Amino acid sequence: MMVAAMLSMKGIERYYEMSSETVKALDGINLEIEEGERVLLLGPSGSGKTTLLNCIAALDNPTAGEYSFNGNEVPRGHAEKMTSFRRDNIGYVFQFYNLLQDLTALENILLIQELSGGRDGGRARELLRLVGLEGEVDRFPAEMSGGQQQRVAIARSLAKAPKLLLGDELTGNLDSKTTAMVMEVLVKACESENITTVMVTHDESLSKYATRVVRLDSGIVTSDEKMDL
Ligand SMILES: Nc1ncnc2c1ncn2[C@@H]1O[C@H](COP(=O)(O)OP(=O)(O)OP(=O)(O)O)[C@@H](O)[C@H]1O
Ligand SMILES: [Mg+2]
Repeated sequence: MMVAAMLSMKGIERYYEMSSETVKALDGINLEIEEGERVLLLGPSGSGKTTLLNCIAALDNPTAGEYSFNGNEVPRGHAEKMTSFRRDNIGYVFQFYNLLQDLTALENILLIQELSGGRDGGRARELLRLVGLEGEVDRFPAEMSGGQQQRVAIARSLAKAPKLLLGDELTGNLDSKTTAMVMEVLVKACESENITTVMVTHDESLSKYATRVVRLDSGIVTSDEKMDL
């Protein structure tokens, strides 16, 4: 039986028309991602990594090309459909945690649950346990280290049980020891929740957490290799 890829992109382009030139942020991306993969997307600054993630997340619209998610076309040019696609399928973790400062770790997760179906305090605590923060549930972001805040952000992104988790330089702000801790937590959480991931980074050393490494340069995929696990 043929199993369709979770994400399938064909000839995806994202051009920006500037007054003096056309910036080809994505210049014909062909990429298939299967369920369960942990893809590391590596590339120099300006190579199109964030643009690609934003297209996958339906935060941005490609200029040309075709892409589908679990067999359905990813919506474009229609804000409501893009939002509901994102809500139903995508978790997104950013470099600077983006936690609400007036809410505790637990409350940050409860809020996301509320926005995507309903509060579940037991589940929220379980997610914080999964990222090793059972002792910090009632702390405010300002009372936590960078690595702890990033783990809250990961727990929060898992709260709505996304099919695909996207991370943009999510360890860009952390020292190497904290990076290792955050990545190990992330791998464990994605394995136990069966979540597919695409992580963007400059950091080659994160390859060891991936099942596949895709390299991007000038909006083009320049290499794509499966990792030995
Ligand atoms: N809104 C925009 N208008 C014009 N050009 C843009 C815009 N956003 C991005 N670009 C250009 O598109 C290209 C890809 O940008 P992108 O943000 O995807 O790079 P990146 O790989 O994420 O880089 P970094 O590692 O620095 O975050 C760059 O040349 C950038 O200048
Ligand atoms: Mg970027």
